[in-house]
Amino acid sequence: MVGHCSSHPDILDLGREELEKAKQAGVLVDCHVSHCGDDMFLIMTHDRGENNTEIHKLAWDTFVKGTELAKKLKLYGAGQDLLTDAFSGNIKGAGPGSAEMEIDERPSEPIIVFMGDKTSAGAFNLPLYKMFADPFNTPGLVIGAPLHGGFSFEVQDVKEHLQVTLNAPDEIYDMLVFIGSGQRYAVKRVRHRDSGEIAACSSTDKLSMIAGRYVGKDDPTMIVRCQGNFPAVGEVLEPFTTAWTVEGWMRGSHHGPLMPVGLKDAHPSRFDGPPRLVSLGFQLANGKLIGPNDMFDDPGFDNVRQEANDIADYLRKHGPFEPHRLPLEEMEYTTMPDVAKKLADRWTPLSDEEAASTTRVQPVPAGSPPPPETEQQPR
Ligand code: 13P
Repeated sequence: MVGHCSSHPDILDLGREELEKAKQAGVLVDCHVSHCGDDMFLIMTHDRGENNTEIHKLAWDTFVKGTELAKKLKLYGAGQDLLTDAFSGNIKGAGPGSAEMEIDERPSEPIIVFMGDKTSAGAFNLPLYKMFADPFNTPGLVIGAPLHGGFSFEVQDVKEHLQVTLNAPDEIYDMLVFIGSGQRYAVKRVRHRDSGEIAACSSTDKLSMIAGRYVGKDDPTMIVRCQGNFPAVGEVLEPFTTAWTVEGWMRGSHHGPLMPVGLKDAHPSRFDGPPRLVSLGFQLANGKLIGPNDMFDDPGFDNVRQEANDIADYLRKHGPFEPHRLPLEEMEYTTMPDVAKKLADRWTPLSDEEAASTTRVQPVPAGSPPPPETEQQPR
């Protein structure tokens, strides 16, 4: 509401009214509108399959109407996540993050919807790894027969628009090479290996890459199915007992600790953060959303919140220095290119002596032969 801190209740009411109309019209089976920080999240169930134009348009139109109201209220950053003027058939690539899964509802279907603010796509890589591949987090991988065969991870290269599927546990070392770099590689889906069932889906939409400049952070979402063939509810929540360092926070340009909170604390204000995460648990009953339970509204997460505040204090002391501020490659979406342009003709070459002790980055013309191989010490 004030700055980037929280969502105005009128906008959330508008979202509820729009989705309720769609439910009455038979477009949705059920819906729930919630928020984390200044972001409205639309949770919808329907039987029209993934990438359905009518459902995507419903979400888009709801965000457009929310933007109109936000502009009337003169709210800050109204509609900053809507990056196209017109709807083009699918909300993907239009700004708002989305995660969808098509399931055969089980006799009991517990799901958890995660909603992040002041952080970015890729922030769920580490928690997903812990949930679905780390037996120190998920004992079910060891002692739960249905989980023992492991899970497969669909990893997207969000820069090159490629994807690869890697299996846990056999390929975890290969997988970690990539998903350890969340700015570029994001886990999109996790599946139960034996049955192929979808277990989790996260939004991997990168606002800065769509817009080519900083327009706010991605504020990702994720759906995780629990119990049975999947980790238990408590195993799905357990990764968030550590305040992992994620990208986002002030101006989307800083590393900060991810703080899991109940809805009552989901309004980040300190240095526009620290990054927040809410998790809502539902039981599905014929597509109806029974719930929610506000899962992080539990004193069991008090320690991680304290840890997040301690990390926040420590990182803030760095001011404009890395690793608090994001690395240069990420800053290319901020003021950095303009400052670099302004100073371009003030840079002068180093003296030969000084240059000799540093490496100059030489542009390699296209089609050049590869450099001769040098023998490398194993690291
Ligand atoms: P949001 O993307 O969550 O609005 O945050 C933007 C920002 O710049 C915070 O300082």
